[in-house]
Amino acid sequence: MSEPFFDYIRANTNTASNKLYGLEEEEKLYARVEYLKLPDFSFPDVQLRSAMLARASTRSFVDQSISLNKLSQLLGSSIAVSNDSKGMRKYTFPSGGGLYPIETYLLVSHVESLTPGLYHYSSVSHSIGLIRNIDDELRQAMRVLLRPMQTDTLPSLYILMSVEKSRCIQKYGSLIYPLTFMEAGHRGQNIFLVAAAMGVGCCPIGAPLYEEMNKALILDGVSAHYVYGLAVGLAKRNRNNTDSHD
Ligand SMILES: Cc1cc2nc3c(=O)[nH]c(=O)nc-3n(C[C@H](O)[C@H](O)[C@H](O)COP(=O)(O)O)c2cc1C
Repeated sequence: MSEPFFDYIRANTNTASNKLYGLEEEEKLYARVEYLKLPDFSFPDVQLRSAMLARASTRSFVDQSISLNKLSQLLGSSIAVSNDSKGMRKYTFPSGGGLYPIETYLLVSHVESLTPGLYHYSSVSHSIGLIRNIDDELRQAMRVLLRPMQTDTLPSLYILMSVEKSRCIQKYGSLIYPLTFMEAGHRGQNIFLVAAAMGVGCCPIGAPLYEEMNKALILDGVSAHYVYGLAVGLAKRNRNNTDSHD
């Protein structure tokens, strides 16, 4: 007996139709959008052990903005290009085949100096571009993302990840499904640990909100689709300075 999902993955990993896809290597950039370079940052000067022991899911946030410097440090230390020398880009997380098929979006509610809305993050240039001003659909998406956390206080922002299939399907076929989910997990843990090191609250959101998030991110859901999200903000502490676990 084998599990049908894995049978499907194995049977469709190397098909002729996969080879019809072009291999797109670069990260996505929105041509008509002006990207804003995030402030210079340094990695949090905290021992790995302390960050790992401090990591815990936060589901209650205070209605207070995080600074642009903090956002820059969080993204820069977790998912930005960490070395761009000798013609080879390096990141602090691994990627199947070194193809980096995941894109990052920021659904911003309240971050100092940023207009609320949807931003695309360039991990190559460590910059953000506003691709969609806040509107009713984005406000609704923020509320939908609160449901799996069972809270009603909006975090400062959500970090949302999507997969660009054309960057990896030619090589891996249906294997991209587990591979991209694994990579999203690696990226998520980086973000989570850096947030913990900075004393910033974070909660992963694994609920299958694919349709809602594809709509918010303006993705067709086929060639590119939402995969994983994290809520980020300043934590509301209870008396024991801990957050409850689901
Ligand atoms: C892939 C994944 C998805 C998750 N999705 C949610 C979620 O939708 N809502 C939520 O409140 N917590 C979510 N969590 C957080 C878990 O509930 C949490 O990690 C677990 O209770 C252990 O608590 P800790 O993270 O504080 O150690 C998710 C965790 C992972 C790894």
